[in-house]
Amino acid sequence: MRLERLERLDTPDERYRFAAPFRAPQGSPIRELFKYVGRPGMISFAGGYPSKDLFDREGLAHALHTAYRNDPITCLQYGDTAGSPLLRRSLAELMGAREVNCSPDDVIVTTGSQQGFDLLLRTLIAPGDTALIEEPAYPAAIQALRLAGANIVTVRTDRDGIDVDALAAQLDAWPQAGRPKLLYTVPTFANPTGATLPRARREALLRLAVQRQIVLVEDDPYGELRFTGTPVPPILALADACPGARDWVVYFGSLSKIVAPGLRIGWAIAPAPIARRMIVAKQTSDLCTSPLSQETARHYLDSGSLTLHLRSIAGAYRSRCEAMLKALAHFAPDDVEFSAPEGGMFVWARLTGGRDAADVLKRAIERNVMFVPGHAFYVREPDRSSLRLSFAAPSEAEAFEGARRLASALSYNSTP
Ligand SMILES: Cc1ncc(COP(=O)(O)O)c(C=O)c1O
Repeated sequence: MRLERLERLDTPDERYRFAAPFRAPQGSPIRELFKYVGRPGMISFAGGYPSKDLFDREGLAHALHTAYRNDPITCLQYGDTAGSPLLRRSLAELMGAREVNCSPDDVIVTTGSQQGFDLLLRTLIAPGDTALIEEPAYPAAIQALRLAGANIVTVRTDRDGIDVDALAAQLDAWPQAGRPKLLYTVPTFANPTGATLPRARREALLRLAVQRQIVLVEDDPYGELRFTGTPVPPILALADACPGARDWVVYFGSLSKIVAPGLRIGWAIAPAPIARRMIVAKQTSDLCTSPLSQETARHYLDSGSLTLHLRSIAGAYRSRCEAMLKALAHFAPDDVEFSAPEGGMFVWARLTGGRDAADVLKRAIERNVMFVPGHAFYVREPDRSSLRLSFAAPSEAEAFEGARRLASALSYNSTP
């Protein structure tokens, strides 16, 4: 298996005169790995998928039936582009529980939060505009920026997320031209590192966004999957205490990781001038998010089932994460260090001896375990020594066994 081959989706085909970013686009390196997932006995730490064993199937079936029985026409007809008013109300309440002060009118329902980011890029980024992104970063955000033609500039992170002092220095040294328009971050249980940005850094980031007039994009699909440690409010929740900051934060939420990605329900909260333009962009994207899905989501949220469900999935993810870390601590060679996240779905591992994680992946696949090599999360010069391990999908026993197999793959020729 050659990983380089996996990344190239297409070869240039001049007949169609594709738009520049689509001439030879890179597909998602992670999706390309999925062909191995179905192999018998494979334990996958590769996907950022929620566990299929943990869906609240009964609760969702009930919400779906209630939605359809109560109001089939609303479910079957087109709906408002900004989203169903009732779901927007439920999501505003959910944001209240996250300490964010907002009204239903502030919420735009999107077809997954991925669509929200795409809509935002359409309103802000013209080819050549500069966008900042933390690195390592969520690959589909990098991909969206690439396809928007952005000049992508990376921002340094450490084990706590964005290094805000380094960012301030980077911005101080910025030439007058090409000022960045936005900064994308996943500040809570980041994909891929699992890191959570401390409160003081969130506040510093807000001040920087206001001073420099940069839209701060907070992507928050994992924030409620905390299983240990002290909760930190979303950046958006802290914005009210920082003069002017509400004008510079765009927040994306999602039900994908906490309820089910198949619903394709996400939402955006943006300053009004941006929000209005995102709604116009959505009119040409999908007219509206599936009303059947929105009604299902609304009934599910209003039934109060989410609180209980969150407790159950966070508990399961905690056991899976602990099982993985226990096996790694016990069996992995000394040149491997790994993070211990307080929530979310990901452990980030590094090979301190400079070995290439792609080589380890080949040996891991032979042992029926998979992960995503870290290079997928870098914009230009990848750190080839890192690995993203998702503990969400396997059971606790599989997480332990998979980590044991991985440790065996890592032990092979552990000195470069
Ligand atoms: C950081 C991040 N943002 C957004 C998404 C996509 O979310 P949605 O299913 O709501 O489009 C993912 C999914 O993996 C993610 O990891």
